[in-house]
Amino acid sequence: MRFAHRMSRLEDKELLSLMELAEAPDMISFSGGFPSPETYPIQDIKESFVKVLDEAGKEALSYSSASGFTPLRESIADRMNRLFNMTVTKDEIIITGGSQQALDLSGMLFIDEGDVILFETPSYLGALNALKAYEAELVAVPTDKDGIEIEALKAAIDKYGDRIKLIYVIPDYQNPTSRCWSNQRRREFVEFMSNYEIAVLEDAAYAELAFGDTLKKPLISFDHKGQVVYCGTFSKTFCPGLRVAWICAQKDIKEKYLLLKSSVDLSTSAIAQRQMDYYMNHCDYDGHIKKIVSLYKSRRDLMMQTIAEHFPDTVSYEVPEGGLFLWLSLPEGKNSRELLLLALKEKVAFVPGGSFYPENAKNNEMRINFSNMSEETIIKGMTILGRITTEYLR
Ligand SMILES: Cc1ncc(COP(=O)(O)O)c(C=O)c1O
Repeated sequence: MRFAHRMSRLEDKELLSLMELAEAPDMISFSGGFPSPETYPIQDIKESFVKVLDEAGKEALSYSSASGFTPLRESIADRMNRLFNMTVTKDEIIITGGSQQALDLSGMLFIDEGDVILFETPSYLGALNALKAYEAELVAVPTDKDGIEIEALKAAIDKYGDRIKLIYVIPDYQNPTSRCWSNQRRREFVEFMSNYEIAVLEDAAYAELAFGDTLKKPLISFDHKGQVVYCGTFSKTFCPGLRVAWICAQKDIKEKYLLLKSSVDLSTSAIAQRQMDYYMNHCDYDGHIKKIVSLYKSRRDLMMQTIAEHFPDTVSYEVPEGGLFLWLSLPEGKNSRELLLLALKEKVAFVPGGSFYPENAKNNEMRINFSNMSEETIIKGMTILGRITTEYLR
């Protein structure tokens, strides 16, 4: 068969097969990016589905409108306004099938073959793949501990000029590094970007998984020009299986997303949207998030402790202040895929860092999830991984 050119850009067969091994039932897997399944509020979810079916069964089992269930869009707007002191309305919200769909639609909306997309490096593999499919050239911009480096960004914009249509960033507890941009860098970035006709795709998947007391303000809250497209999701704070997420963008941009959304899948599941709205308004969503954040923080602490005890000093890392991941660096020249092969033999999995750089630009890092495994399993898995790492680096 003659496949589309874009398919040649999407292959990472080796990683996909390694990741399949990582999902084996007896594996201690630090590779996933999900919340801990034991925290899913199954009883509340069950009750809200029953309520939805009792009260509006026919509508819930039909198609939704392409923009999404209006009360859910209102609930999301209200929540963003309360959390971030914004004045968003439902007219700026469209519901998507996971934020993964929002990323894909963004490629469809903004990108023609040969356009340039800037992204902070390293970055979420799923987004890079979704955007690559639109045959863009992906150009990495380095970050420091406060966020994307403005000088480097300026240099990239000077170099690629009008070819740049989009910049993709994850300012909150980023996947894979868990770094979080400072408030000052957020402001500086939005102000700087307002000089250009470049859409800013803000992926806020981890925004509410903050271990400190306050949430950082999203980029979109600083945006007076209307160029930031905010992607929110319930996958990390609630559960990924419902596939409910949203885009918040100024009305004209949102209307364009709507054209695409209706042709891609007609609508997101009506029953899932209604369930989510019922849950948001009748159950304790804030309390649920508080509970999971506290659990992840304690698992992060345990993870740090096991690393201090079992890993060699030549492995470096930053302590994550939110999110789901720990980002470890092996000494330069070492390859974490080699380490993964050794770890898989002993039934422990993680994601090698090269996967988060297009062209595998750097290979000595690794992403380890700390939300998804029980305390005993963290201790067992990290003790094994520490030993294997020590032997590998010897
Ligand atoms: C940064 C980031 N964005 C988006 C997604 C996709 O999430 P969703 O389940 O909402 O499609 C993920 C999933 O891991 C992610 O890490």
